[in-house]
Amino acid sequence: MRDNLFIALEGIDGSGKSTQVKLLAKKLEETGHKVYATFEPTDGMIGSMLRNILKGSIAADHRTIAGLFLADRLDHLLNETTGLVKKLDEGYTVITDRYYFSSYAYHGTHMDMDWVIAANKMCADILRPDINIFIDVQPEVSMERISANRQSAELFETLESLKNVQAKYLEAFEKLKGEENIQKVDGNRTPEAIADDIWAQVQQYSAR
Ligand code: ADP
Ligand code: TYD
Repeated sequence: MRDNLFIALEGIDGSGKSTQVKLLAKKLEETGHKVYATFEPTDGMIGSMLRNILKGSIAADHRTIAGLFLADRLDHLLNETTGLVKKLDEGYTVITDRYYFSSYAYHGTHMDMDWVIAANKMCADILRPDINIFIDVQPEVSMERISANRQSAELFETLESLKNVQAKYLEAFEKLKGEENIQKVDGNRTPEAIADDIWAQVQQYSAR
């Protein structure tokens, strides 16, 4: 049993994940944890290729994109220097902005979700999050936040696709509720209120 946690934050684009990763990392550090905050798509080679695809600079079929996200995730876990398996062994509490539930939700809108889940089984066997925290935000709220802050939208950033992704997240949680620890927080509130809820969830699973 590790006493350092592996925490995944999930939610549609603009749900506030990266804001909450920062707030959670700060609280964990203040309470004596060593924290490694990370994200998918990664900033490695495969992740960079994915960002170019998401921006529209490179064209790719949705099945190819799903395969690349899987490869990026395996590198995220297994990379010899920066891999999460190593970070957890070194005693870091790891917080990731997106993990495999993102694949189930985003690729599940284009292909059979069960295929995506089966393809990611190896990742679940290597590292299953101690907690998956879902920041549950109304797609309209999230779309407003995105539009207020960005000049151009990425591949999935239309209201319709955010609604589809939100629905697929809920479908994936229902399918996997027996094997995954999934905690939902109401993300339509202030960053501080959301952070307090996340902190309460994390403390329940923290040995310290
Ligand atoms: P994500 O990583 O899920 O895309 P971000 O944390 O980048 O989301 O947040 C998207 C935008 O919304 C940012 O400009 C951020 O400052 C803002 N934001 C984040 N959380 C909230 C919140 N609870 N209420 C209002 N605005 C928020
Ligand atoms: P991200 O940089 O987290 O965007 P945001 O901060 O707007 O949430 O993720 C980029 C995009 O990648 C996002 O639209 C979701 C998508 N994505 C997938 O399609 N599959 C995946 O497996 C992951 C991890 C992300």
